[in-house]
Amino acid sequence: MFSKKMQDALNEQVKIEAQSSQVYLAMASWAEIQPGIDNITAFFYRHSDEERMHMLKLIHFINERGGFAVVPPLEQPHLTFPSIKHAFQELLKHEMYVSESINNCVDIALSEKDYATHNFLQWYVAEQIEEEALARTINDKLELIGDDKGGLYLLDRDILQVSVVGNGQ
Ligand code: FEO
Repeated sequence: MFSKKMQDALNEQVKIEAQSSQVYLAMASWAEIQPGIDNITAFFYRHSDEERMHMLKLIHFINERGGFAVVPPLEQPHLTFPSIKHAFQELLKHEMYVSESINNCVDIALSEKDYATHNFLQWYVAEQIEEEALARTINDKLELIGDDKGGLYLLDRDILQVSVVGNGQ
């Protein structure tokens, strides 16, 4: 049984995934005008695309279960950042917030005995583990790098290799 409560929680998650896509799109646009970080820029654009896929997956699921997926209004995200480190700190904070919200959906699925939605949400649970781990890894590297431009050069060179995580499928 797909309850109204479950549907509302998943629609809220649609909004959060859409907002995530906006947040990372803004990071990508900002990164694109910073010199010499083409791969970090590509990372943010790709991450934004993945969040849109997460949103679409939810929209299809809600509609397939007989509900109605609501396309939400979005807020303007932060447009600029004091540094690349600040952008990645915000990314980690945002992913932790997304994880909390997914966990809330899982709680509702269990309390409603909606095992189909519970099963569907396990993909998001696994995805959040990967995304938080990746964000922490990059933040740790940036902490080590400090103000060393050579370190930032290497992070930009390697970031697309370390970031082969969930592809949103
Ligand atoms: Fe779809 Fe990164 O949360």
